Amino acid sequence: MHFFGYAFAILSAVCSARAQLVNANNNTFGNVFNFWTKRTDGWDLTRGNSTNAITLALPHPEGNVTIQPAASALVIIDMQNFFLHPDLGGDPLGRALVPTTIDMIHAFRANGMKVFWTNWGLTEFDLMSMPPAFFRGFSSDGTSATSFGSDMGTIQGNISVGRKLMRGSWNAQPFGDLFEEQVGGVANGTDFYFNKNRLSGMWGTSTPMQTFLEDNLITTLFFGGVNIDQCVWGTLLDSYYKGYDVILVDDISATTSPSAATGMVDFNAALNGWRANSTDILPTLM
Ligand SMILES: *[C@@H]1O[C@H](CO)[C@@H](O)[C@H](O)[C@H]1NC(C)=O
Ligand SMILES: *[C@@H]1O[C@H](CO)[C@@H](O)[C@H](O)[C@H]1NC(C)=O
Ligand SMILES: *[C@@H]1O[C@H](CO)[C@@H](O)[C@H](O)[C@H]1NC(C)=O
Ligand SMILES: *[C@@H]1O[C@H](CO)[C@@H](O)[C@H](O)[C@H]1NC(C)=O
Ligand SMILES: *[C@@H]1O[C@H](CO)[C@@H](O)[C@H](O)[C@H]1NC(C)=O
Ligand SMILES: *[C@@H]1O[C@H](CO)[C@@H](O)[C@H](O)[C@H]1NC(C)=O
Repeated sequence: MHFFGYAFAILSAVCSARAQLVNANNNTFGNVFNFWTKRTDGWDLTRGNSTNAITLALPHPEGNVTIQPAASALVIIDMQNFFLHPDLGGDPLGRALVPTTIDMIHAFRANGMKVFWTNWGLTEFDLMSMPPAFFRGFSSDGTSATSFGSDMGTIQGNISVGRKLMRGSWNAQPFGDLFEEQVGGVANGTDFYFNKNRLSGMWGTSTPMQTFLEDNLITTLFFGGVNIDQCVWGTLLDSYYKGYDVILVDDISATTSPSAATGMVDFNAALNGWRANSTDILPTLM
């Protein structure tokens, strides 16, 4: 075929595919594979699968949000000993989130919605490929000797804290009662554990969490953890960039940063998706 014949054939194919992808309904946002529908009383994020759909009374002027439980997950970020344990100088605001986080975990499981534990869990390869800025950011004393991978010694006489944020170490485990929830939930197949090697668990071309989302057709993500303006925000923003629905849950998120940092996250998360408290979600799920 002449070159222009080819070009025309490809162009026609692209145009007819486009005609099918562009929706005729002004209240459908997106394409046939990935869309939201705006109703008079809210938003439908189920992408056409209304089986067992759940409508949540999220506080938003546009109304409620309807989700597909099989396509939804609670993403708990960095609620690890390293960031929360008192003997490691952890954040009391983060520790205070634990009971509410557990309430959310139980409610999600009860409705067939998956629970994700997205945590720092470095390998030797990660240490080889880690940029200098990250080693500096995670130094305890201003030298590289105390950054990622360094031995953190022993606390309480017999707890070996392990190497900083390395996969399988005690300091990288979920904090307090969350540890038992994570171990039991993963064993039961309701929960899933994803290691990350940057603030975001969704950066770059792919991550363990992103692969799982794709394999399981999960589209709608609720976020909590620490720090709201760093690892929670990084993961939420990358998820938004990659096409997932993002819902920030205020009262299971905290930070050690100045309040302006949370203000920025709150403002932008509401634009990228939705914000809610567990109190807006739990009554419907329980
Ligand atoms: C969609 O909106 C456009 C522009 O406002 C309007 O011309 C068109 O009739 C609308 N289509 C439907 C199906 O309502
Ligand atoms: C949202 O859901 C709540 C609880 O189900 C209901 O009372 C309220 O009328 C709904 N609001 C809208 C705008 O649909
Ligand atoms: C639709 O939702 C139901 C109930 O949540 C789920 O079991 C099913 O796998 C979903 N179907 C598809 C095609 O995702
Ligand atoms: C660690 O020490 C505590 C008391 O400080 C004790 O209760 C616990 O059994 C010890 N654990 C192990 C594994 O030795
Ligand atoms: C695991 O499943 C068992 C049996 O359904 C249940 O009793 C237990 O509470 C579950 N544990 C967790 C952590 O989900
Ligand atoms: C969550 O609750 C806090 C404390 O009451 C409140 O300041 C915040 O605005 C609430 N978030 C949303 C999204 O309503």
